[in-house]
Amino acid sequence: MAKYEVGYLVGSLASNSINRKLALALVNLSPPELDLREIPIRDLPLYCYDYDSDYPDVAKRFKDAIANVDAVLFVTPEYNRSIPGALKNAIDWASRPYGKNAFTRKPSAVIGTSPGSIGTAVGQQHLRSILSFCNSPQMNAPEAYIQFTPDLIKDDGEVTRDSTAEFLTNYMAEFRTFIERVLTVLPRQR
Ligand SMILES: Cc1cc2nc3c(=O)[nH]c(=O)nc-3n(C[C@H](O)[C@H](O)[C@H](O)COP(=O)(O)O)c2cc1C
Repeated sequence: MAKYEVGYLVGSLASNSINRKLALALVNLSPPELDLREIPIRDLPLYCYDYDSDYPDVAKRFKDAIANVDAVLFVTPEYNRSIPGALKNAIDWASRPYGKNAFTRKPSAVIGTSPGSIGTAVGQQHLRSILSFCNSPQMNAPEAYIQFTPDLIKDDGEVTRDSTAEFLTNYMAEFRTFIERVLTVLPRQR
């Protein structure tokens, strides 16, 4: 089976982020055909179109990293029923300058966790809307709204509840299938 490079973005900058724990769990549970690596968003300055003619190095590296992977996985908290500003800022960097959007035709998937029972569902709908505009084919199903309970995922990404581990394993397997389907119809332009 073909191998795919997947860049993942963690929407939280918090040192004890539960979404980072979820991302580690997804790395652990992903099928061997997926090579996952984080694309960090922490050091990006705030985007402004004044930079369009000359991106700072950190933004160039970020945008190149998006461009050079086969697919992108978003693992993000919900902030005030939307996505964190840091994540939106990162997406803005990768989407510009006009006509050079790194998300075009790039398969993506969205997942997140929160202590509340909504499990980031509302924030994810905002993210899906943004990704639609950015022309990223998104995995529609399965959706994944993970309610984080204490100790659900250990610091090293181990999932302590079997049913959740099974769900996340299936989610990543479905993402692999989705990437393959998208890239069969829309091969990467290198
Ligand atoms: C600014 C802010 C806004 C928040 N808004 C929401 C929200 O809209 N929905 C929700 O379920 N939790 C909300 N929370 C609580 C987060 O789900 C919780 O802090 C969670 O740990 C964030 O994920 P992280 O640990 O990966 O950063 C909010 C937290 C912060 C700091």
